[in-house]
Order: sequence, then structure tokens, then C-alpha cells
Amino acid sequence: METIQKTAAAIDVDLIRKQFPVLHQQINGRDLVYFDNAATNQKPQRVIDALVEYYSGYNANIHRGIHTLAEKATRAYEQTRETAKAFINAASTEEVIFTRGVTESINLVAATYGKAFVEEGDEIIISTLEHHSNIVPWQFVCEANNAVLKVIPVTREGELDIGVFKQHLSSRTKIVAVNHASNSLGTINPVKEIIRLAHAKGAVVLIDGAQAGAHINIDVQDLDCDFYCLSSHKMYGPTGTGILYGKKELLEKMPPYQGGGEMIKEVRFEKTTYNDLPYKFEAGTPNIADVIAYRHAMEFILEIGRENIAAHEHALLQYGTRQLAELKSVTPVGTAANKVGVLAFTVKGIHHFDVGQMLDARGIAVRTGHHCTQPLMDCYGIEGTVRASFAVYNTKKEIDLLIEGLERIINFMKK
Ligand SMILES: Cc1ncc(COP(=O)(O)O)c(C=O)c1O
Repeated sequence: METIQKTAAAIDVDLIRKQFPVLHQQINGRDLVYFDNAATNQKPQRVIDALVEYYSGYNANIHRGIHTLAEKATRAYEQTRETAKAFINAASTEEVIFTRGVTESINLVAATYGKAFVEEGDEIIISTLEHHSNIVPWQFVCEANNAVLKVIPVTREGELDIGVFKQHLSSRTKIVAVNHASNSLGTINPVKEIIRLAHAKGAVVLIDGAQAGAHINIDVQDLDCDFYCLSSHKMYGPTGTGILYGKKELLEKMPPYQGGGEMIKEVRFEKTTYNDLPYKFEAGTPNIADVIAYRHAMEFILEIGRENIAAHEHALLQYGTRQLAELKSVTPVGTAANKVGVLAFTVKGIHHFDVGQMLDARGIAVRTGHHCTQPLMDCYGIEGTVRASFAVYNTKKEIDLLIEGLERIINFMKK
């Protein structure tokens, strides 16, 4: 296995790219340029190998078996929990729950903590920047418990209006749920300040870290967040798994999410008692293979170093922002001062789907549409954008190809 050079100044992108088999192919006769990383990023060989090794070498159900394969699978599964604990700096592995990803993590908290502790007239605060998965579960809670949903607005640049957030906060606020970084605009939110302000009013805070996991250092103890959610597939890991971090004292008082095997201590028809943390929230056979492979994705990130990844992607963002500004027909959407590597824009006179399709014809994969943030698009008065989002394996040369493609498309459509 090649190891990745770790120097603060520059990472060896060629060496990194060699680890991603999917990148080395042609799409529509051209070298693939993959800029759809905010939707899901690509997987290094070590992650793919971990999946194959599990299925071909030690496939077994975990925790209950006493045979060799079951013990090996259990060890590997729990090793990911150890890595995840270190990755987010949780105080204990009891605070790390494996879920299907951010969507399930948020739904878990809404359906358990939300339904149990939010009362009639209480308030839940989210923001205009949220992905639908950090909106709809809270609407469920508000409908079920007669609570009120309040929304932090965004400025034209795409930054949260913290002044309005302060006005929204009151003793009725029970939950604040915001993302660490926006998938549509890239804005990095001041989550530490949000958490501090919310705690001062006695509210708990959930952070949607879907767009942070592969880009930003995460320290849940330093943030002092109550819940933090991650998706493996946005962190170079497999689909179908992710993490819910929760503070132990909160997880302990929350009712279970799903009932079934593993989450119980003793089952009697009269009464069932529940398992200890974290297993109380992991009912049924989990996604063993993908959890095992997830460790290798986190190790990949840690080996390169999150500061180095951030520096590389920031350089790409700055370069791309400057290049895009040269194109007269292009309007950027989301110009916050602090951003992860997301370039979103509209092109005058050309529908974003058409731009996306024409870029695909040139081998360039971008995302188009509302990016599961319809209220945010409404706020900008647009239906959607074209979004190029960067990962550690992207290069300035690829940005040049994007810009060249856009120039060609704009000129072609003028004719
Ligand atoms: C900010 C944000 N939150 C939540 C999600 C949902 O993540 P998942 O589909 O992995 O559950 C996404 C996915 O794009 C996202 O970008």
C-alpha cells in the first residue's frame, strides 16, 4: 500500500489519484473530471479492498457469535468505532452510534429526543441553509408535538444571520439543528458560537456534519455539540453507513429508536429492558461490511491530514472562484467568506440541467438542481444551480477544463 506524503505545504495529488481506480477512465471520450464530491466522493482502493476482504475472508454476523469468523468481524466492526471516536474526539465509544448516514442520524434524534422532550409551544430552530434531511424530521416533531419551527435567515452572500438567531433564541428553544458546512453554497457556519448561544438558553444542538467530514477538523468536545452527524460516503467511505455522535448523558435518557435484536438486554412479554450504549440504538444486524470499510476511509483522511486537505481544497476554491468571475454570463451563488470547496453558479439564459448535460458530454461531472435545499433556492429566487464541489484528488487543471467547457457552452448557446 502506497503511503501518502504528509507535508503541510503540498500534498502529492498524483499519488492520491493513483489510489482511486474510478478516476482513471474516460467519459464520452474524455478523461473523467469528477466534481460531484458533495453528493458523494470516490473511494480509495483500500476501502474497496476492505469490503472484498470482509466478504471473501470473514463474513459473519457480529457480537453474538463465538466462532472465529464472528469474533474477527466483531473486532473489525468495533475497531471502526474506536477510529470514529478518535476522528471526532468523542469522550467514549459509547457515544458513537452507527447509522445509515446523516439522514438516519437526524431522524433518530428527532424521533427519540425530539418526540420525548419537545413539548407543546416549544421551539426548534433550524436555518435556511439546511438540507431537506435537516428540515423534514423537525417538521415531523413540530407536527406531532405542537411545537414551532423557527428558521435562521441567510444573507445574500449565504452566511447565517446570527443577529436574527439571537432574537429567535428563548427559554422555549429546545433544539437547534444546523449544518457545519452547506452542501449548496459551501458556507462554513460558526457552529461553535451557535452552540454556545443555544446552550446559554438551555437548548441542545445537533450539527449536520455531512459536508464537514472530509474537509474540516471535527472535535465534538471542543465544539461542545450535543449531537453530530456524519455520512461515510461523503468521506471516501462506502454508502449505507455513518455516525451519530451524542453526549452520553443525553443518549442515556433518550428512548430507543428501533426495536429488535441487539438493542435489548432482556425481552419478556411483560417488559423489555434495553441494552447499554451504543447498542441501544443499533437494532438488528447492522451494515457490517460498510462499517468495517469506513475505518479505512477515516484513516485515509487522517493520514493526509485534515489541515492539508483543507489547504489544498481552499487553493482550488480560490482558483476556481477567480476563473469563474471572468465569465460574464456566470453568476456565483454563495460567496461567504469562509467556505469549503463548493462553486455554485447559474449561467444566464441556460438552464442548469442543460449546462450539466453539456459538461457531461465533455467528461465533467457536476451536480445540477436544488441540491435538496429548496427553501434556500426559493430564498435566492432560483430553481437551482450548477455545482462543482472539490475533493482532495481534484486539480487546477480540472478547473481549467471546467472553465473551458463553460466558455464553449456559453458561446455555443449564443449562436
Ligand atoms: C448538508 C447535508 N446534510 C444531509 C445530507 C444527507 O446525507 P445522506 O444522504 O448521506 O444521509 C446531505 C447529503 O447531500 C448534505 O449535503
